[in-house]
Amino acid sequence: MAPRQAHDDQGIYALGVADLPDPLGPPGVRHDVVIAANRLPVRLDGDGGWALSPGGLVTAMTAVMEGRDAVWIGWDGGLGDAADSAPPARFGDMALRSVSLSETDYADYYEGFSNGTLWPLYHNGLLSTRFRRSWWAAYRRVNEKFAKVAIETTEQDGTLWIHDYHLQLMPAFVREARPDIRIGLFLHTPFPPSQLLMRLPWREAITDGLLATDVIGFQTPTDARNFLSLAHRMGRTEEVMPIDPVTEIIVEGRRVAVGSFPISVDVDRIDEMVRDPAAREAANAFRESLGSPKHLLLGVDRLDYTKGIDARLKAFEELLRDGTLDPAEVAFVQVATPSRDDVRGYSNTRTEIEQLVGSINGNYAQLGKPVLHYLHQSLPFEDLVHLFLAADVMLVTPFEDGMNLVAKEYIACRTDGTGVLVLSEFAGTAVELHQALLCNPFDTAGMKRVIETALTLPVEEQRHRVRAMRTHLWANTVHDWAEGFFRHLDDVHPRGQRG
Ligand code: ADP
Ligand code: G6P
Repeated sequence: MAPRQAHDDQGIYALGVADLPDPLGPPGVRHDVVIAANRLPVRLDGDGGWALSPGGLVTAMTAVMEGRDAVWIGWDGGLGDAADSAPPARFGDMALRSVSLSETDYADYYEGFSNGTLWPLYHNGLLSTRFRRSWWAAYRRVNEKFAKVAIETTEQDGTLWIHDYHLQLMPAFVREARPDIRIGLFLHTPFPPSQLLMRLPWREAITDGLLATDVIGFQTPTDARNFLSLAHRMGRTEEVMPIDPVTEIIVEGRRVAVGSFPISVDVDRIDEMVRDPAAREAANAFRESLGSPKHLLLGVDRLDYTKGIDARLKAFEELLRDGTLDPAEVAFVQVATPSRDDVRGYSNTRTEIEQLVGSINGNYAQLGKPVLHYLHQSLPFEDLVHLFLAADVMLVTPFEDGMNLVAKEYIACRTDGTGVLVLSEFAGTAVELHQALLCNPFDTAGMKRVIETALTLPVEEQRHRVRAMRTHLWANTVHDWAEGFFRHLDDVHPRGQRG
């Protein structure tokens, strides 16, 4: 696929989405490739403008959809019916088609079933999970609404690629009306052990929704195995054939491929950004602005209770308290994108993090020289690249994470091979990046030891590890991920075979 640099200056990443909206054409225009995700790649910000939507799904999909004639169906972040009648918009090469959410949909489908039930359940029950029948009803209703738009928008024998936990019933609605459409679904989150998922009162419907696809992609082999075990327990698999790297199952006489497709990053684009001398200068200037610390540690996350931001801050605080780290020599930068402010669990996490930030700086900063720099903001990707270039140690410590693209972005930026990635064993990324220093975020003493090792790791050892991880990333790019997924769709459901 063509490199995506053309959009970087005024398009997707810098987001002067000033040229939005741009007409897609009259309703009923159909596309060969249709992407469906809860969110569009851009969302309405509070001031009526457009901002890039947060999260790894959007980062990956905007990279791979460049140059393809496709439409992206999703919610634009507004509430009410206005979005349905608003003119469709374009984003880069893609047309956008918005699906409206009412205030009730937002409360019951988005905050409720998606983020109050499924998100904690799929992240291994990190937060107690609530099962409400009204939330489930809204989830069904909104999935049906998305399906209706996809049915209207997809060409005969076209491809529908659905993303994430919000839309797991959508495949069943689409298949019933349009068996010709090739349907894939990729889950960006983990998929929990069947024992945990069995708690869900609507487990059969979720299983059947997923099995209505042609290809179901997960982040890791464990996630794929967990789903296969669920499908087996539900008695849905007529035949099971491991055909590496996927397992094909027969469901009501139909082939369905279930496999692990680890998502990745656009390494060439990142490499191009990093090799610009201005990027290195910006990174140096940034480091100087922090007082040129001997050690610079970095965390970059959406503010989510799954990310273990609090765990890493506690470890950092203890390292300062017991004198292992000297506040005169170290700086820690934590950037946290605002996320799901109104969903249960998020405001508590934010409060806890901000109290830790206050206490760490209160105890260890000097006047005009914080030891911990905390931003609760979304930054342009260029700025993140400068931070990745400047940081000696990157801390990625989620309690549970489907993949974690930030870890891969950091390694993709380290062209000189230096730098240390401290990575949670519970991130999907850890399955691939074995040369990171792995840690258990539930074990503060263990995490402190790993951070200490990271800060004293000889440069030769750093290079050895980073180079191995870079080789892996260059052999498994986000474009390989998408092409692999489309290849399996072609194989399981050749164009024109059904419907
Ligand atoms: P998730 O999808 O759960 O948010 P990932 O690590 O997979 O986690 O993806 C996060 C994406 O969002 C990455 O591409 C990262 O660069 C980007 N990102 C994270 N924090 C920020 C921030 N503060 N500002 C802008 N982008 C961010
Ligand atoms: C994660 C999820 C995405 C989601 C993103 C941002 O990356 O996998 O599906 O879009 O977080 O969350 P939000 O709730 O703001 O869409």
